[in-house]
Amino acid sequence: MRGFSSLPSSAQRLQGKVALITGGASGIGESTARLFARHGAKVLIADIQAELGDSLSKQISSESGQQVSYVHCDVTKESEVENAVNKAVSLHGKLDIMFNNAGITGKYDTSISSFEAEEFKKVFDINVYGGFLGAKHAARVMIPEKKGSILFTSSVASVTYGGVPHPYSASKHAIVGLTKNLAVELGQHGIRVNCISPSGMPTPLVARTMGGLDMKQVQEALLAVANLKGVKVDCNDVAEAALYLGSEDSKFVSGLNVVVDGGYSLRNAGYGINK
Ligand SMILES: NC(=O)c1ccc[n+]([C@@H]2O[C@H](COP(=O)([O-])OP(=O)(O)OC[C@H]3O[C@@H](n4cnc5c(N)ncnc54)[C@H](O)[C@@H]3O)[C@@H](O)[C@H]2O)c1
Repeated sequence: MRGFSSLPSSAQRLQGKVALITGGASGIGESTARLFARHGAKVLIADIQAELGDSLSKQISSESGQQVSYVHCDVTKESEVENAVNKAVSLHGKLDIMFNNAGITGKYDTSISSFEAEEFKKVFDINVYGGFLGAKHAARVMIPEKKGSILFTSSVASVTYGGVPHPYSASKHAIVGLTKNLAVELGQHGIRVNCISPSGMPTPLVARTMGGLDMKQVQEALLAVANLKGVKVDCNDVAEAALYLGSEDSKFVSGLNVVVDGGYSLRNAGYGINK
């Protein structure tokens, strides 16, 4: 984990901005919360892991000097998403960046013939409907301001095939479609919408899907299949893409699926770390 003490204000790219990050208690969301706070943003971590989210927000807050808080939010429940967005506004007066990042892979060992409807619905509920609700309530408060940045975490599974469960692949493709469709509507209100598609990152989600490997073993497995040699990937590489898309540096960028995979998908039509 990289350090995240505050940068000098002249170097802060999110100074004065307010960001809400779903799935912010772990992995990619956690790294993004750290980086956003380091860059001067006030951050609201929205997650279902209350103890972790609460202690993480206090830790980032004390290390960065920024206001970082936790709100319990199951993204599949509209009232909780609505409450999280309202909390950002009541605490900080506005919402500039909505990062719809919470997601699950679902069960790995299932084929189409034995797939259960409930499992499919569970993955879509969190990965797609959860993000849809986040965008809906973010748009509600961003439209009157005529600005804002809405982000989603899709996956390299949106540009590769196989190696992941069917609902996961379908849900991540759906996020790309949702991103582009929303970018058309919300562009009329000055709001940008983009998604990020990471390849395998060393997070608890990936460690679980690789049979409970530790993070060092996950890193080694990711390095072994990487296209871009010599780069030790970590979640901060995804957080940096979110920083760019959340900041004014990308003020004319909307509707993009930013693939953060070191070129993996250019030479692999299928995704291979779990094979
Ligand atoms: N790690 C990777 O290699 C990778 C690659 C591509 C895409 N992604 C995507 O990145 C996102 C984050 O994954 P991660 O690897 O950081 O996983 P992670 O498991 O470390 O973190 C996911 C977080 O989402 C939270 N969450 C789960 N269900 C939720 C719900 N219903 N409401 C609110 N929060 C919920 C979890 O509590 C957890 O804190 C996911 O959308 C995932 O599909 C990850």
